[in-house]
Amino acid sequence: MNDREHYQACFDLMQAVAAYRHQPIHRRLRKFAKRESMVHLDVLVLTYHLAWICRGSILEIGAFRGGMTVAAAWGVRDGSSAKKLITIEPGGSLRKHHLATRNILRSLKRNLARQGVAEQVTIVEGHSFEPEVVAAVHHALDADQVALLILDADADCKRDINRYGPKLMDDCWLIIDDYGGKADNCKVLPTKTQVDELVNSGQLLPLGYYGFGTWVGRWQGLMPPRAQ
Ligand SMILES: C[S@@+](CC[C@H](N)C(=O)[O-])C[C@H]1O[C@@H](n2cnc3c(N)ncnc32)[C@H](O)[C@@H]1O
Repeated sequence: MNDREHYQACFDLMQAVAAYRHQPIHRRLRKFAKRESMVHLDVLVLTYHLAWICRGSILEIGAFRGGMTVAAAWGVRDGSSAKKLITIEPGGSLRKHHLATRNILRSLKRNLARQGVAEQVTIVEGHSFEPEVVAAVHHALDADQVALLILDADADCKRDINRYGPKLMDDCWLIIDDYGGKADNCKVLPTKTQVDELVNSGQLLPLGYYGFGTWVGRWQGLMPPRAQ
């Protein structure tokens, strides 16, 4: 991709996301986001859009109460082709937060059911780096490849990309949260450092920055174009 094409791809994505502001899905996502998601509404819209247009399976790492999971599931539902949507979440609790819950997995399952997408989503319980979890994701994907990877877990995106990289399609979309944000967010420095390294090595192509500090771009392959 030359500079002109790169600029156009960034611009097209911004324009596509902004266009949803005039559609009913925007109001639906806004209503849902207020009560259930940690990410900015623009990021939910971006997730919805990419889930709709991507041509393969979707893997999410770090679902929490299911904010981005539901946005992705609605995108798949409104698109024309069936896609697998797999999410990894270890569960636990979150206190002293406006989205506090004593049981993350229970809240996630309840939200998926309430929003009518429980059947569409495979929840893999555990941490993304646990061998049983990696095996369960591979089993759920079977021969399919991932066309959209959503990372919003514990700020070790390189580890997760190494684990699941062989299942990513070339040009797989990536949404990575915590690339930017508040100064007291301890996930920002490791996330930004790792994403910038992957961009500099040619493995990731940046296409934008949305919401409170979410990075979006595309996977260029385990063997980056520059090294081939
Ligand atoms: C910031 S929250 C995700 C917010 C969510 N994307 C939303 O829309 O509100 C991070 C979640 O990642 C989970 N998590 C942390 N480390 C993880 C790991 N290694 N694998 C999978 N999930 C993880 C946490 O339990 C937590 O629920």
